Amino acid sequence: PTFLKVKANALENPFYVGVAVKAHQLTEGSAYDEVLKNEFSSITAEYEMKMNPISTGSGSYNWEAADKIVNYGNDNGINVHGHALVWHNAVPDWLSNFSGTDTEFALEVKKFITDVVTRYAGKVRSWDVVNEAVDDNGNMRNTIFLQKMGPDYIKDCYQWARDAANTAGDTDLLLFYNDYATSTNIPKQDRVFSIVDDLKANNLIDGVGFQMHNTYLSPTKAQIETDINRAVALGLKVHVSELDIQVNQNNDITYLTEERALAQKEKYKEIVKIYNALPKANKYALTVWGFKDNESWIPYSTDLNHPGNDWPLLYNDKFELKKAHTGFLEGLD
Ligand code: G3I
Repeated sequence: PTFLKVKANALENPFYVGVAVKAHQLTEGSAYDEVLKNEFSSITAEYEMKMNPISTGSGSYNWEAADKIVNYGNDNGINVHGHALVWHNAVPDWLSNFSGTDTEFALEVKKFITDVVTRYAGKVRSWDVVNEAVDDNGNMRNTIFLQKMGPDYIKDCYQWARDAANTAGDTDLLLFYNDYATSTNIPKQDRVFSIVDDLKANNLIDGVGFQMHNTYLSPTKAQIETDINRAVALGLKVHVSELDIQVNQNNDITYLTEERALAQKEKYKEIVKIYNALPKANKYALTVWGFKDNESWIPYSTDLNHPGNDWPLLYNDKFELKKAHTGFLEGLD
């Protein structure tokens, strides 16, 4: 078979083909390891580089899983994208229940960002510094960070990340803002780009992550291009950061029908083509949120209120290629 990263690397303007991984998949010689090394040129930790798995208390950390992922990438010439330093769904209990002052809370966040960025300086190419800071009404999401640190918290977090990287000598670290559904939710898109504009004006951002947890029916090509082009217009890198394509969001099929498989293939092809058409300066990575259907977060996801099973990725549960994989390859033509 043709491998995704081989075709992407051969492009006139190459970009990383990324995938979300879990530390336990990275055992040398495992079936995962073989697919990962053959197909992908970038990895993102699906969970284990977030604040809650790493931060066990003020200034105390459990680095094991994050180190395994970062070392796997660096040992195998695979790019590592850091996800995510500050996210309201990844606050460890000790910080959620923090009894100190707001100033002390902010210092804990600063210390966490500084320690993580410093540890992985030169080994992690890019970080989602803040993830999902805008709610679905297009307002600043009312997170513990906003409540305790005030509306400048976003700028503060990017400043701390930039300062830590520069102090560690990692002046090339790419700082991203990452969010979802901005293609179809215009108030949210507008708020995201007001935040991004402000960060760009302070030279605190290098790229925008578009998660793209999509269905085969949405968003349209035009909606995706309008959204992504706002980052292009700002001279920022574009990361399609968490791509998967649901085919059963209405729970009306019990297996992946031929018709839905073909629709999914065409949607992967469309999105890859959109990304591949980007100017060289704006390309970074197109990352799929896992590669094996039965390991996707989507089926029965409470976050999504997903009602049933789904087959959103490029490989089936037997490590076999799907039509979606062919669609991805065709998008690279
Ligand atoms: O592995 C631990 C286990 O040791 C522990 O006992 C158990 C206790 O809850 O947690 C297990 O970790 C789970 C982890 O996935 C395993 O990979 C967490 O509970 C569970 O919350 C976590 O879910 C992840 C979720 O983010 C929350 O971090 C999903 O895998 C991951 O796909 C999802 O990804 C998010 C992106 O980060 C941001 N965009 C949305 C996307 C989907 O929600």
